[in-house]
Amino acid sequence: MAAAISETYLVRTPASAKNYVRACEFMPGGTSRQASFWAPYPLTIERGEGTYFWDVDGHQYLDLINNYTAMVHGHAYPPIVEAARKQIGDGTGWAAANEPQNRLAAMIVDRIPSIEQVRFTNSGSEAGALAFTIARVITGRNKVLMARYGYHGSLFEFEIGSFGKEGPLTHLASYNKLDDFAAVLDEHGADIAAVFLEPVMGAGGITAGEKDFLHGVRKAAHAAGALFVLDEVLTLRFAIGGCQAGLDIDPDLTMLGKIIGGGFPVGAVGGKKDLLKLFDQDDLKVFHTGTFNANPVTMVAGEVSLRELTAERIEVMHDLRESLESQLSEVAKIHGLPFATNHYGSCLNLYFSESVPESSVVRDDDEIMDRFHLACINHGVFIAPRGMIALSTVTTEEHITEAIERADAAMRDVAAETK
Ligand SMILES: Cc1ncc(COP(=O)(O)O)c(C=O)c1O
Repeated sequence: MAAAISETYLVRTPASAKNYVRACEFMPGGTSRQASFWAPYPLTIERGEGTYFWDVDGHQYLDLINNYTAMVHGHAYPPIVEAARKQIGDGTGWAAANEPQNRLAAMIVDRIPSIEQVRFTNSGSEAGALAFTIARVITGRNKVLMARYGYHGSLFEFEIGSFGKEGPLTHLASYNKLDDFAAVLDEHGADIAAVFLEPVMGAGGITAGEKDFLHGVRKAAHAAGALFVLDEVLTLRFAIGGCQAGLDIDPDLTMLGKIIGGGFPVGAVGGKKDLLKLFDQDDLKVFHTGTFNANPVTMVAGEVSLRELTAERIEVMHDLRESLESQLSEVAKIHGLPFATNHYGSCLNLYFSESVPESSVVRDDDEIMDRFHLACINHGVFIAPRGMIALSTVTTEEHITEAIERADAAMRDVAAETK
């Protein structure tokens, strides 16, 4: 019985295995994206449509992570495909302006209360780097304060923090602990250019920030002369105006990404005009450019993505997540597996432990989680290796039923291996 889950995975996915061996010849670790690697090798996906994708061995998967929340309308969403296809036919980029960027920028300004203007980038990571640059230029300081296990992309200064490590320019404090943030600002405030926070920790395990905490940190940051940057790269999918609308919080800068590109590479920094004027040609303080910034394909796809993400659809995704989460919990109980979840809106993170840890980075159920992840794949359902799930607007009650049937089979396999 031992290792049956791993063996099944190996037997089912020879073409993915072959592709991984080939990938390792040309790319270190066989990938350019650590979050899409898992042992023994990741699936190679050939195509996606709606809530499903298919691997190179011909297996179909119900995709419950939707490219870590970016595919909020699922794969190959017809209105996005149509808009992108038309734009591709009309050209994909030029070193001059385009009209779609105005429309997407206007839509973002219209939807998100604190944003008066935006600057586009090609990823959330680039948006983080740009927000940090803005803060450094405005304040003349060099350091950042962020939550331990927070995630703001792959810039070195942020990435170390996501693994709980401080660095030459990175201070950390505990999420949802205002006193902790205040203490760091008391001691190091004079060096800190900005405090970065997610309103809901995403990669850290879908942990919601408390309103008083977020407001308190903003106030403490300002008292220390630092900017307050809210990272809504992931959380914009939770409400039309992002989490900041419901929290009634007014960040100096907001990081955006994922859904504003309709599935194409994207990022943006939004904020007040008096801060972003450092990009104004009349008094240029930051030379920000990029060959693919605000490229028209991403812009038209993002426009459709935002327009089609209505309050009603956000509500439906929320209800479906609740249904999925409670049924998963029931199934785990039936199989005698410890089970706990964190959730917000259309996302959840599951753990095979009695309670949720401070972050999914410091969990003690890695072994069982790894098995469940592979077992899910064996049964045709795809979640993040760390147990994160993000639904899309094309998820239906039938998909939830299917997900539960498949997760039930996966948990049965896990329970058999752990006994
Ligand atoms: C909150 C948050 N910030 C920043 C990023 C980085 O975005 P990207 O992966 O587009 O670089 C992510 C990506 O997962 C994120 O969730």
